[in-house]
Amino acid sequence: MSDSLDITLHITDRDGLKHTIEAPTDMAMNLMEVVRSYELAPEGTIGVCGGMAMCASCQCYVQSDHELPEMTDDEEAMLSEAFNVEDNSRLGCQIQISPELDGLEVELAPEE
Ligand code: FES
Repeated sequence: MSDSLDITLHITDRDGLKHTIEAPTDMAMNLMEVVRSYELAPEGTIGVCGGMAMCASCQCYVQSDHELPEMTDDEEAMLSEAFNVEDNSRLGCQIQISPELDGLEVELAPEE
């Protein structure tokens, strides 16, 4: 049974495997930290800058039409320099897990 404070996320890893996981909304976690805690990407390949919007290792493609928090200037600047950027690219570390994100579908961008 899942806790009511958890939401469900669908995350496709870099090998194309889909994972449906539960993430807590009450622990101030961001999407990058959730991916790390479930070890959906090898240690050292995601979250390199520690969530400062300075490395783009947490880039992901948002596939569902959820309303996401607006990009900060830092996030926009980093994505303008990163590789493999698509229209739906976001930095996972800049997306806080909140109840509105229940059912979110993302795919991890390739490692740079
Ligand atoms: S962890 Fe470095 S930009 Fe997100």
